[in-house]
Amino acid sequence: MLYSKEVMDHFRNPRNVGEIENADGIGEVGNAKCGDIMRMYIKVENNIITDCKFMTFGCGSAIATSSMATELIKGKPVEEAVKITNKAVVDALGGLPAHKLHCSVLAEEAVKAAVKDYYDKNGIAYDQEKYKQGTWGHDHN
Ligand code: FES
Repeated sequence: MLYSKEVMDHFRNPRNVGEIENADGIGEVGNAKCGDIMRMYIKVENNIITDCKFMTFGCGSAIATSSMATELIKGKPVEEAVKITNKAVVDALGGLPAHKLHCSVLAEEAVKAAVKDYYDKNGIAYDQEKYKQGTWGHDHN
C-alpha cells in the first residue's frame, strides 16, 4: 500500500478545513513544482494558537499533511508551532512515498507564513532571515 492508514484518513476526512474570519495570521504558500496552493489561518490568544484552519488547492498528500499540521499546532505556543518541520508532519502521518515528500513542505511553509503574518500584524520582532520564503524547511525534496 502506497499510503499509510493515517494519510488516507486525513485525506478522506481532513481536519480543520475552512477559513477563519478575523484570523490573527494568514499564510499562503505555493509549491513551485506542481503549482498547488495552501492557505493557513491561525487564531492566537495569549501567544497560544487557539484555532487553525486551512484551504488547500492541491493533491491528496498536501491535504493530508496540512490537516495533520493543523492538529499538531493547535493549542501550541506560536514559537513552538513554527518549529514543526515537514518531517514531523510526515512522521505523524506514518510516512509518505518519497516522491510525495515535497507536498509536506507546503504544510510547514504555510504554518510559518501564517505566524509571520501574525508577527507582522502585531509588530512582534522576529528573525527576518528565518522567515524568508523559499528558505523554509529542513527536508526539502
Ligand atoms: Fe502538489 Fe502534492 S503534488 S502539493
